[in-house]
Amino acid sequence: MQDIIRKLDEKREKARLGGGQRRIDAQHARGKLTARERIEVLLDEGSFEEWDMFKEHRCTDFGMADESVPGDGVVTGYGTINGRLVFVFSQDFTVFGGSLSESHAEKICKVMDQAMKVGAPVIGLNDSGGARIQEGVASLGGYAEVFQRNVMASGVIPQISLVMGPCAGGAVYSPSMTDFIFMVRDSSYMFVTGPEVVKTVTHEEVTAEDLGGATTHTTKSGVADLAFENDVDALMYTRRLFNYLPLSNREKPPVRPSTDPTDRLDPSLDTLVPANANQPYDMKELILKIVDDGDFFEIQPDYAKNIVVGFARMEGSTVGIVANQPLVLAGCLDIKSSIKAARFVRFCDAFNIPVITLVDVPGFMPGTAQEYGGIIKHGAKLLYAYAECTVPKVTVITRKAYGGAYDVMSSKHLRGDVNFAWPSAEIAVMGPKGAVEIIFREEKNDPAKITAREAEYREKFANPFIAGKRGFIDDVIMPSETRKRICRSLAMLRDKQIENPWRKHGNIPL
Ligand code: HXC
Repeated sequence: MQDIIRKLDEKREKARLGGGQRRIDAQHARGKLTARERIEVLLDEGSFEEWDMFKEHRCTDFGMADESVPGDGVVTGYGTINGRLVFVFSQDFTVFGGSLSESHAEKICKVMDQAMKVGAPVIGLNDSGGARIQEGVASLGGYAEVFQRNVMASGVIPQISLVMGPCAGGAVYSPSMTDFIFMVRDSSYMFVTGPEVVKTVTHEEVTAEDLGGATTHTTKSGVADLAFENDVDALMYTRRLFNYLPLSNREKPPVRPSTDPTDRLDPSLDTLVPANANQPYDMKELILKIVDDGDFFEIQPDYAKNIVVGFARMEGSTVGIVANQPLVLAGCLDIKSSIKAARFVRFCDAFNIPVITLVDVPGFMPGTAQEYGGIIKHGAKLLYAYAECTVPKVTVITRKAYGGAYDVMSSKHLRGDVNFAWPSAEIAVMGPKGAVEIIFREEKNDPAKITAREAEYREKFANPFIAGKRGFIDDVIMPSETRKRICRSLAMLRDKQIENPWRKHGNIPL
C-alpha cells in the first residue's frame, strides 16, 4: 500500500509539472500563467476536482512511444465560481505545445458530456499549437468530436472560451462556436492560416498579432468579445460574466439581491436627450442610470460601437441590454451592428434572459458598401432574432425610431411585451428632412417652404402619439421614471410563457 501511495504521489507530481520546469519558466517569461495556475484563478479556492490526471496519449509514431506526460497536455475537471458549478478544460502549452491528441480530445469531450448531463457551463482555456502533428488524422477526429459537442451544447449550456495562447487552423472553430470569446493582448492569436501561409498565397505581410491578435478580433473581425491585458484580468472578468448567466437553458438567470430601489427616479434623465434632434448623447449614460447599482457588463465594447449590448441586473435578476448608440454613426443599424445585436438577443433568448431594448435609431446605414456587403440579409438577422425571441421584451424609445429600424428594434409587432416611449420620441417612416424632400420635391428650390413643411412634418409625425394612438406603444413615460417602469414590467412578465410553433429549426438568413 505504501508503495502504491508513493507511486500515486510521484505520478501526481509528474502530472502537475506538465512539460517540466524549463517550459513552465518559458511560459511565465511570456507573461502567461500555466494551465493549472489559470484554473486556480478562475475557480473558487480549493473547489477544483480534477479528472483524467493520469490519461496519456496512445501514439507510438515519431518517437512518441517514449514521450508521454500524464494528463496529455490538458487539465480537465469541474469546480465552482461563487459556489456555482462549472466544468473546465485548460490546455497546457508546456506539454507538446498544448497540442490536441486523440486522448487530449477525449478528456475535453468527457467534461463536455458531463456538463450536458448535469446542466452546467463549460469554460475552455485555449493555449495550443493545434492538432498533435505526430498523430495525424486521429487528432483531426478528436477536434471534430469536440466541434460536434460544441454544437449540441449550443443554447443548452453556456460555453465560454478564453484564448490565452496560439489557436490556429481548424482549432479556431471550437471557440468560435461557443457563446463568448475572451482574448489576451500580445499573447494570444486566432487565425485560420498563419502569417507565412498568408504571405505565400496573397503576398500580404502581416504579423501574427495584426492578423489574429486580441485587438484585431475585438475591433475588426468581431470574432472575440473582449480583450485583456493579461491572463489574470481575463480570468477575473470571466468570473464576473459567469455570475450573470444561468447554468443551463432549464434555469432562470441567477438573482443577486440588490439594495438599489426599483422605484429609484433619476431626474437627470429628463434632460439627457438634447433639444436638437441631430445632437448625439451617450446611451451608456442611460444604461448605467437605470440598471441595478450602475453595474453593466458590456459585450464587444470595441466592435460595432453604434450598438451597445451587455448584461446588467434589474431587481437583482440578469437582463440583456441592447441599445442604439447615437454617439457612433448616429446609432444607425449596419451590417456589423445587426450581427452583433442579433447574436446577443439569441443568446438571451436561449438562456431565459429578458431583453431590454433602448431605441434611438435613424434607420439602416445607406451606401454601396452596405448593400454589396449584404445589409439586407444581415439586417434581417436582427429582425429575425427579435421576432423569434420568447423571453420578456421591454422596449424604450428615447428619440428616433425611423423606418424599418423602428420595426426591427423589438417593436410591438415583433411581440414586444411592453413598449414605452419618452416624450422626445419620434416614431415615423423617416426623419422630417428626408420625408419633406420626397413628398414636396417640387418645392425643393424654395427654402422657406421646405422649412415650413419640415416643421409641419415634425409637428405631425415626430412624436410618440401617432404610435400611441394605435397601441404600438403602451405608454409615454417620463425619462426619470424609466427604471421604475421597466422593473414593474419585468415583474409583471416574470412568468411569461409563449411558444413558437414546432419546427426542426428555422432558417435564419446567414
Ligand atoms: C506537436 C507541437 C505542436 C503540434 C507545438 N508543438 N505545436 N507538438 N504538435 N501541433 C511542440 C513543439 O515541438 C515544442 O516542443 C513545443 O510544442 C513548443 O513549441 P515551440 O514551437 O517551441 O513554441 P513557439 O515558438 O511558442 O511556437 C508555438 C507555435 C509553433 C506557433 C504554436 O509550435 C507551431 O507553429 N506549431 C505547429 C502549429 C501547427 O502547424 N499545428 C497544426 C495545425 S493544423 P518542445 O519539445 O521543443 O518543447 C491543425 C488542424 C486542426 O491544427 C484541424 C481541426 C479541424
